[in-house]
Amino acid sequence: MPTLVNLFDYEQAAQTKLPESVFGFYAGGAADEITLRENHAVFNRIKLRPRVLTNVSQRALETTLLGHATAMPIIIAPMGMAKLAHPDGEVAIAQAAKNADIIQCLSTLSNTSLEEVAAVGASCWFQLYVYKDRNISQRLVERATSAGYKAIVLTVDVPVGSLRENLMRTGLQLPTGLALRNFDEFYNTEAANIRAFINSQLDPSLTWHDLEWLISITPLPVLVKGILRGDDAKRAIDCGVSGIIVSNHGGRQLDTAVTGLEALPEVVAAVGMGTEVFVDGGIRRGTDIVKALALGARAILVGRPVLWGLAVAGQNGVEQILAILRRELDTAMALCGCASVADIGSDLVTRELAGSTR
Ligand SMILES: Cc1cc2nc3c(=O)[nH]c(=O)nc-3n(C[C@H](O)[C@H](O)[C@H](O)COP(=O)(O)O)c2cc1C
Repeated sequence: MPTLVNLFDYEQAAQTKLPESVFGFYAGGAADEITLRENHAVFNRIKLRPRVLTNVSQRALETTLLGHATAMPIIIAPMGMAKLAHPDGEVAIAQAAKNADIIQCLSTLSNTSLEEVAAVGASCWFQLYVYKDRNISQRLVERATSAGYKAIVLTVDVPVGSLRENLMRTGLQLPTGLALRNFDEFYNTEAANIRAFINSQLDPSLTWHDLEWLISITPLPVLVKGILRGDDAKRAIDCGVSGIIVSNHGGRQLDTAVTGLEALPEVVAAVGMGTEVFVDGGIRRGTDIVKALALGARAILVGRPVLWGLAVAGQNGVEQILAILRRELDTAMALCGCASVADIGSDLVTRELAGSTR
């Protein structure tokens, strides 16, 4: 195998390893995949304005997220069905997150139960949908709380499933035995039942009242994921959320939606100081992370590359992905004249982007 140097190398290696339909399910986006492509392309259009002669001999990548210390401003994004990449699935990701001392946000649609993932001992957030059957959501929140999760992340950009044309063409064969283990107490979600179960439980009638309801039933901080507008971010704050994740679901929901990075300045301006704002979508380089933080993100979430690492080498592969990101972020910070995450300010990026979505 050639030496895998960066996250793109891991993507290629994963493509040769995974069945075509599984790679397509992970890599693909909605419709023409315009948003999917833009998610990364937008980072390349922003240029950095490095500071020099600032003494960067010691660098600190540590930060705090919702009051908890973390080794770097990188969170593992929630992604369903990790066992399609590797039999160790979400547990391998949790082990890697624990060893890197960063937060893993576990997807509701995981192939491993939230309790089994929590037992690894990583710092975890739990991602949730509000389902038609509210008892399921309530029960999952209770279980996540008892298992020691630190926050609930409510994903709000899936009122309905999206149109995934690559999957319409290839289909997705699910191995027998694979199931959405968080739902074992409610439904049999094995193989053919998975899609039917998800479709039957997605609730297009959700409103801000459902967010208020969720906040009212849990002592944990609640974040919303899937916000792309300042007014929606403000509304979420008024409901009582503790953080906003600016995201277009990795280009998997509304094609031609604005990218998270483009929406970020508007959201940051709308929520003001005191609310932590996170961003995801297309982050593949340490310089991408610097740009996101310069535009006001507290931290970023990384999605697909974690699955590429998992597919290539299980837990070890995820650790390599996180090590590459760490090395790239550290180097980018040094070359930008930043000795700590707090030194990353808006002066480091060209300003075209900040006004582009208004
Ligand atoms: C295979 C896959 C499954 C995903 N499943 C979920 C999910 O269950 N819940 C959710 O909120 N987001 C889900 N996402 C979206 C990610 O959390 C994240 O927003 C996105 O992948 C970030 O973009 P990136 O992959 O370009 O880093 C999924 C993404 C992928 C690629």
